[in-house]
Amino acid sequence: MTAQKTIQLFLFLFIFTIGSFAQSLLDVLRKEGFTQWAAVLESPRNAGILNFPGNLILFAPTNAALARQQLSGNAIQRRLDLNDLRAEFLAVPSSGTIGSFKRSSPTCNPDIAGPGSEDLMTLLSDPTFVNLPLGQNASIVQKNMPKGTLPIVLTGLGDAVRVIAEDIPFDKGVIRPISGWFTLPQLLSETLPFLGADNVLGVLERTGLIDDFDNRTGITFLAPEDQAFPPNLADDVLADILRRHLIVGLPTFTSDINHGDTFRTLAGTTVTVTITCGEVSIGGARILSGDTIIKNGVVHIIDSVSNRPVPWNRGM
Ligand SMILES: *[C@@H]1O[C@H](CO)[C@@H](O)[C@H](O)[C@H]1NC(C)=O
Ligand SMILES: *[C@@H]1O[C@H](CO)[C@@H](O)[C@H](O)[C@H]1NC(C)=O
Repeated sequence: MTAQKTIQLFLFLFIFTIGSFAQSLLDVLRKEGFTQWAAVLESPRNAGILNFPGNLILFAPTNAALARQQLSGNAIQRRLDLNDLRAEFLAVPSSGTIGSFKRSSPTCNPDIAGPGSEDLMTLLSDPTFVNLPLGQNASIVQKNMPKGTLPIVLTGLGDAVRVIAEDIPFDKGVIRPISGWFTLPQLLSETLPFLGADNVLGVLERTGLIDDFDNRTGITFLAPEDQAFPPNLADDVLADILRRHLIVGLPTFTSDINHGDTFRTLAGTTVTVTITCGEVSIGGARILSGDTIIKNGVVHIIDSVSNRPVPWNRGM
């Protein structure tokens, strides 16, 4: 064999080997049985996902999950129309390592410390569902579960979708199998009823704050759960309290915050974060269920009225 032929043979083997490992997204989806999801991605409106220049984590609902939702829908998720899906919400640009979930290292007794979570910015930028500062797309929050179980993903309207199997690699990222479609982010006013926070919504409506809270770009709203909501106070006092529960600027996911962080509220006050063994409190109120994604940010349900203004402390 001449040197040239040897090189040709090596090149051939090299390309052949690479080719057999690196399979395209659609090929892998079909091979693994996600044929419905593959069909959704083939629609021309999803070319941006298939041609995305970088690596992706692509969350992939199983055929069974899609069929279930198409047949019935449920209280939260509108009946799915496959032609009207925002598939971008299930695609996350990923620069990090492929194929492993980031699990947090517990900061105290591992039996007490909650497992970590991470917020992931998706490719969803459609203004019908996203009202965030420039350059920000809708996020989802992947919440890791105790060792040995797979994470859940927190989406819109308080909906959580389960990751149901380990990542499957394709040539430009990983496919992460999930149990259902992600619920798209809605307005704060549309979301609060799903979170057991009707009282706070009532006050926001009565005091006329709701338009501002719904339309403001980039918020984190700390919503006291119904039971925690103060008894009859004057509306102007309540309005002041609620302005102290709105963190302005970028959305603040529980995965982003650290003990001692402070944030500015709409009332001009600051709230401070305390974290004790996995429990996160902001302004002295504990987060009961965090990270519901809304159009303009995120909502956390808290167990008490935080950061009370002086009249409230004195009077009650
Ligand atoms: C936001 O979404 C757009 C459109 O899908 C995409 O081109 C862009 O890369 C995304 N931005 C980020 C920061 O992921
Ligand atoms: C503000 O939000 C409300 C929904 O609460 C909407 O009806 C209204 O059109 C919005 N206003 C602006 C200026 O976007």
